[in-house]
Amino acid sequence: MSLGKVFVAKGTLVLSTLLICAVILELAHCQKDGQEQRTPSPGRKPKANKAKAGKATNKGPRAVTAKPKVKATAAAQAQSVLTQVLNRGKFKKVGATLSVQAGDTLELRCRGRPVQWGVPTYLEEDDEGRLSIIQHERYGSLTLVNSTGADTGEYTCYPMYCEDTDCRKDYDKALKVFVFFPDPQELFVPSSDYYEAIQLRTNWPTVLPCQVTSPEAKVTLHREFPPLEVAVDGSEISFSVTKGFTIHRPRPHHAGALYCVASLGNLRQSSTKYMLIYVNYPMAPPAPVIQASSSSVALGENLRVTCVVMGEQNVVVDFAWEYPGQQIGRPLYTQESTSQVAGGAARQQVQSVLLVDEMREVDQGLYTCTAENLQGAKSVSTTVKVVTKAKPKKP
Ligand SMILES: *[C@@H]1O[C@H](CO)[C@@H](O)[C@H](O)[C@H]1NC(C)=O
Repeated sequence: MSLGKVFVAKGTLVLSTLLICAVILELAHCQKDGQEQRTPSPGRKPKANKAKAGKATNKGPRAVTAKPKVKATAAAQAQSVLTQVLNRGKFKKVGATLSVQAGDTLELRCRGRPVQWGVPTYLEEDDEGRLSIIQHERYGSLTLVNSTGADTGEYTCYPMYCEDTDCRKDYDKALKVFVFFPDPQELFVPSSDYYEAIQLRTNWPTVLPCQVTSPEAKVTLHREFPPLEVAVDGSEISFSVTKGFTIHRPRPHHAGALYCVASLGNLRQSSTKYMLIYVNYPMAPPAPVIQASSSSVALGENLRVTCVVMGEQNVVVDFAWEYPGQQIGRPLYTQESTSQVAGGAARQQVQSVLLVDEMREVDQGLYTCTAENLQGAKSVSTTVKVVTKAKPKKP
């Protein structure tokens, strides 16, 4: 059985707006041939096509552009151009996207000496000998043979900036093209996993990649329970044929099992499942406050050091302690508790209390509490002195 695939025999698909747009764009590209090369809009680095199950994958857009501060030299300033080599030795400047029928050969050329290429992660890991990259005197070439829908993704040419033998990628001049490999059997870039877990964070856009192999596929978003199509209004949730669906401001009600459905012609298929897990993501790192029961404690008496964090409700705060007795292996006794703040809307107080029984001289020193939430950590310290009392506690 092919997992999660739905084939619908009937169902005539009207030309979608998407398709019309694609056609118009393609025409626009054709007309642009021979004109100035435009810098493609910066894209997200494509994710691995082999999704990692059970792992939170929303690390935000992975930045390809670390943008080293490198002044362009005259050599690097020479305009780089990314072209597609077509049959019969014809060349075509590429636009933002490109379609190559699955099974066909993709051949790109990029002016510059040398250049480096960026390919979808899936190809980086294992191209099975289908990918060849050759540096010629004036240009670099990338050739991908026996292509499949899985090769769909972003292809980048980085002109290199060189000083003697030391070469670095010129990220500012990177030329990107998103290549689709329409596959009549696979509307979605295949995934080896049945589902993918994605964190929904309060203040972070969430992306459901559900990458299609054809820009002409009509893609809809669906919820498993209750089974319904999710409205995509372009502002709360939007769709891009190269990025997938973006939930711009995740809310708890977005959580659950979602999947995409693509249709093209008579074919209708479901994507891998996305398990969206809502994480109450704090606005800021915690601001702990530390207080010792006393700043000078008599030998043999007990000490309580309290570390308190006030903050938004339902935000997990972790505490870690450092204390002088640690060095001699004094065990750590802590009590943690959470309470809602009376009157205050959606506020909570989380505290950790460190208990030291029968103070000894080694317990004198600095007590540090580190409070951590998903946004970061902060440490606070207090010093405790041990004083000798006239009356010893035990014989
Ligand atoms: C491409 O496919 C052809 C036909 O199936 C095969 O003979 C050839 O070895 C393949 N080439 C590569 C590099 O995989």
